[in-house]
Parts: sequence; structure tokens; C-alpha cells
Amino acid sequence: GQLEKGGYPHFMLKEIFEQPNCIRDCMRGRINVEGTNVVLSAIIDHKEKLLKAKRFIIVACGTSWHAGLIGKHLIESYCRIPVEVEYASEFRYRDPVIDENDVVIAISQSGETADTLAAIDLARRCGAFIYGICNSVGSSIPRSTHTGSYIHVGPEIGVASTKAFTGQVTVLAMLALTLAKNKQTINNNEFLKIVGELMSIPDKMEKAIQTNNQIASIAKVFTYAHNFIYLGRGYSYPVALEGALKLKEISYIHAEGYPAAEMKHGPIALIDEEMPVVVIATHNGMYDKILSNIQEIKARKGRVIAFVSEGDEVISKLADICIELPQTTECLDPLITTIPLQLLAYHIAVCKGKDVDQPRNLAKSVTVE
Ligand code: G6P
Repeated sequence: GQLEKGGYPHFMLKEIFEQPNCIRDCMRGRINVEGTNVVLSAIIDHKEKLLKAKRFIIVACGTSWHAGLIGKHLIESYCRIPVEVEYASEFRYRDPVIDENDVVIAISQSGETADTLAAIDLARRCGAFIYGICNSVGSSIPRSTHTGSYIHVGPEIGVASTKAFTGQVTVLAMLALTLAKNKQTINNNEFLKIVGELMSIPDKMEKAIQTNNQIASIAKVFTYAHNFIYLGRGYSYPVALEGALKLKEISYIHAEGYPAAEMKHGPIALIDEEMPVVVIATHNGMYDKILSNIQEIKARKGRVIAFVSEGDEVISKLADICIELPQTTECLDPLITTIPLQLLAYHIAVCKGKDVDQPRNLAKSVTVE
């Protein structure tokens, strides 16, 4: 009912707006007030197993799989352990190579996804150690893992996942930081810098949410587009995938997320004056590369909607539409850039008169194959 939506027209919008507080809850008790230490109790309790892992395998579905891609980047960068990211549905039927030196990280909002549960069972039978990252407390996945961390973002009602995604990424960042500190694969200054940035993420999320009105007016312009391309590089590539998925799920517009540099191997053929291209182009190590990708799109008359860092003066001159976002450190950028993409999908779906909270053909948790 209206009361549960707290004055918002849809659960999805409520859940998008809740994210700053959800992330505060997710970090509470896990980062000390001085910002000098990160503790996930699951790691402390199973230190031996986790620090000795030769490899991590992340299994998940849908939006949780996208969070897994960011987790791979975080863990490989800071812990120097190889990480594979698998769709649970593929992993479980492939007779994968896996043994007791592997740690499997199962990511699931609901904790009930049938394929993810089956992937866990398989990995467990092969002797792997299983770490769960879930939202629903006491659900099936947390009960079938050796250990895990809850994301603590509260119940998610909208079928399209929003706050669970940012909660998953936050836990993965805390996991990577804790492991890296224990393995001494991160220097202390870098560690302190990232922890400090993590603590300021909720406030920066509030700022990202302030783009809401701007995004709502952009949505009106693009309501009748038939296709969208979403591009990003590095940490922003999974964000592009997630942005495209949000749009498909609730507005039923065909959208493709792609690594920006891979565009020239195919999708660039689709670009003409009809094609909106959403580009995540914030200030980070990939900035110059993404700038030239935008030039390639403009040369083919594509319509660029760019998400940039505050004060950007270069891309703002090139893109058709430019939305400024607060800047953070590269590895945490997805926590900020995801928010306007959730809002874009939301407002386009609303303009089209679609049932945002209960999109056709989709289920909140997929408990059958
Ligand atoms: C369904 C939901 C998605 C979700 C996916 C995985 O498809 O509609 O929003 O990302 O399942 O769900 P899980 O609960 O395992 O994260």
C-alpha cells in the first residue's frame, strides 16, 4: 500500500532513494569511526581458509552477477588472488574444475535463487569453502554456506534490484579491503584512502540522487527510443551492464551493455542518429580512453548521454547530454554511477506507463529452474 511506500509512487523509487542510508547500515560496525580498520566478522572467523585460497569463484545470477564482476576487479586488484565470475546456471552444469583450495562466493539478494543454490551444493561436494553475500536473513543460501556477510539493506520489494546491488558492491569492497590488509597486498596509505572514500560514499550518493529531476526530463526525450547502448570501461563496465539490464527489465526497451573499447568489434555498426548511447565517463584512470570512445560515437552521429565527474569541461562539450556526479576513488565509482542509471530506467518506464514494481514476465526471486 501507499503507507509502505513512504510517500513514493513506487517501491523502486523509494529503494533508489534509500541507498545512502542502506549503505550506512551496511557499513555500520564494520568500519571503525577513525576509518583505520575494516572488519567483516566472517573473515576473522575463517581467516585461515580465506587467506590461503588459491582462487575465488563468484557464482550469481542477474544483478548479483554484475556485482560479482565488480568484486572480481576489487579482489584481483587489491588481494592479488585470481577470481572467476560465473553464472550459477552455467557453472552447475559444466562439471567445473574446483577443489578444496577454492573459495566460492555466492551472491544473492533473496538467498533463494535455485541455480545459485545448486551451484553452492556442487562446489561444496567438490570440497570448496563457501562464502555467501545475501540480503534476506535466514534464507536458504545463508543456511547452506560455511560463512558469509549480510548486506543489511532491508527488504527489497521492487522486482528490479537496486539497493541490493549497491549493498553487494559495498560488502565486496569491504571484503577486498579486509583480505588485502591481512595479506599485506595493499599499502597502508592506499588502504586508508579507500576506507575514507568508502565512509563518504553515502553523502556522495545523496548528491547523485539529486540528479533525479534532470534525469526525469531526459527520460521524456528518450521514452520512444527502441534501443539503447550502455558503455563503460574498467569498474564502469559492469555498471553499463547493470544500467542496460534495469532498462530492459522495467521499460521493455532493448538495451545492450558493452565494454566501450569492444564496441568497435560490432556494436558500432548499430550507431546512427537514432541511437542513444549512455556512457559512464567519470574522472578515473580510463578517462582519456573513454573520451576517444565518445569521439568515435559522435563521428557516427550517435546521441551521447554522458555521466561525468563534477566540473568536467571536455566531455561536456562533446556529449549531447551531460550529467555531473560527485567524484570518488576509481574502485568505488560504481556505487555512485549506478544510481542515475537506476533513475533513468525508472523514469523511462514511468513515462511509458509500465508497471515499474512488477514488470511483466519477471519474478523477484527465481526459485525454480
Ligand atoms: C531475478 C530478479 C533479479 C535478480 C536475480 C538474482 O531475476 O528479478 O533482480 O538479480 O533474480 O536474484 P538473487 O536474489 O539471487 O540476487
